[in-house]
Amino acid sequence: MRKPPAGPQDSKTPVPHATTTGMTGQGFYDANSAPQWRAIEAVLPWIDEAVADMPVPSGVASLADFGCSEGRNSIAVMQRAVSACRARTGGPIQTLHCDLPTNDFSKLFLGLRPEGRSVFGDDAVFSAAVGGSMFDQLLPPRSVSLATTFNAIGFLSTKPVPALPGYLLPNGPSRRGGNGHVSDADRAVFARQAKDDVAAFLKARAAELVSGGKLLVQVFGCTDEARTCDGIYDVLNDAVLDHVASGEITQQTYEAYYQPVYFRQLQELVAPVQDSAFGVSDLYRLDRAEAYEVSVPFNDAFAQTGDLEVYARDYVNFFRAFTEAVLVQALPMTDGRAALVDRIYDRARDRLIANKDQYPFRYAAMAMLLTRTA
Ligand SMILES: C[S@@+](CC[C@H](N)C(=O)[O-])C[C@H]1O[C@@H](n2cnc3c(N)ncnc32)[C@H](O)[C@@H]1O
Repeated sequence: MRKPPAGPQDSKTPVPHATTTGMTGQGFYDANSAPQWRAIEAVLPWIDEAVADMPVPSGVASLADFGCSEGRNSIAVMQRAVSACRARTGGPIQTLHCDLPTNDFSKLFLGLRPEGRSVFGDDAVFSAAVGGSMFDQLLPPRSVSLATTFNAIGFLSTKPVPALPGYLLPNGPSRRGGNGHVSDADRAVFARQAKDDVAAFLKARAAELVSGGKLLVQVFGCTDEARTCDGIYDVLNDAVLDHVASGEITQQTYEAYYQPVYFRQLQELVAPVQDSAFGVSDLYRLDRAEAYEVSVPFNDAFAQTGDLEVYARDYVNFFRAFTEAVLVQALPMTDGRAALVDRIYDRARDRLIANKDQYPFRYAAMAMLLTRTA
């Protein structure tokens, strides 16, 4: 299994209004985010719809993506938005790729200007990156025509409880035999935090969007049929618990560790737009909202080839890319920490190979398209 490079991730701590320092960098997230792209691809037509309906300014048309990570998926999204925008204006277009200051932006910058020219193949398209929490205003007032976010708003702005002693994710283990528990009281606190986060995100974007501007919010989540957290967090939890059993991780460290990510139902995503108590419902019109499921590349590949080693490698690398930074921070800062992290993900791979059917993974997602009202 290709290991992500050790190093800078270890020394970072989250900035205000963030609970992760970002994805595993140096190309690792880009190389292991094909499932996220499938979830984005499903709503690309929504971008065409949004751009067709948004006001095009006489000056610069600004398109902003929040939670861009290393940029491969963010740039591909912008390819679609830029070409839809180009059909409406010959004027300058700006693409803005925003993420945490602790995010590894280096691949993004390389990707935006291959061979010294805009990746968008258009000399009137200008790109920039912005570091900051997406729960804060990051761009000038009334300057953005289209704002998007993909697979990002599930990462909470804050940890609403100090510890989750029985499992490492607020949504709890899968119903098909996941190991662990989260109390109803704790789940309710996270559900509330997730709604407050949507409200904070919408408030920040409302300040940045022009009147009539569009906001596309897409994120992983839960439907009645599938939860995107199932499988991946069960196998990670079991792999960490194996290290508790072997004495390499203390029970206390396990109990204090959790991934501050929440997997919403569609109703939880749209609630702040519909309920005036969140203070943002009069800032937007809800154009459409939908939950959906996409196929997963490593499941498809396994169905074709039956290669369990490759399946386990791709499955683990996929969730390692978005869980590693938080796991590293949760472990005591010792010389052996990086090696311990490697062993935990290796153990997850071994568990998948030994018992693949215990950890099935499906990708459920949801999206809403909003218009900034006057
Ligand atoms: C799973 S990645 C999604 C990347 C890309 N949008 C995609 O769909 O492939 C989530 C991204 O959200 C970012 N993120 C998490 N919390 C954030 C916050 N509070 N503010 C800005 N970005 C945040 C992470 O750094 C990460 O790059």
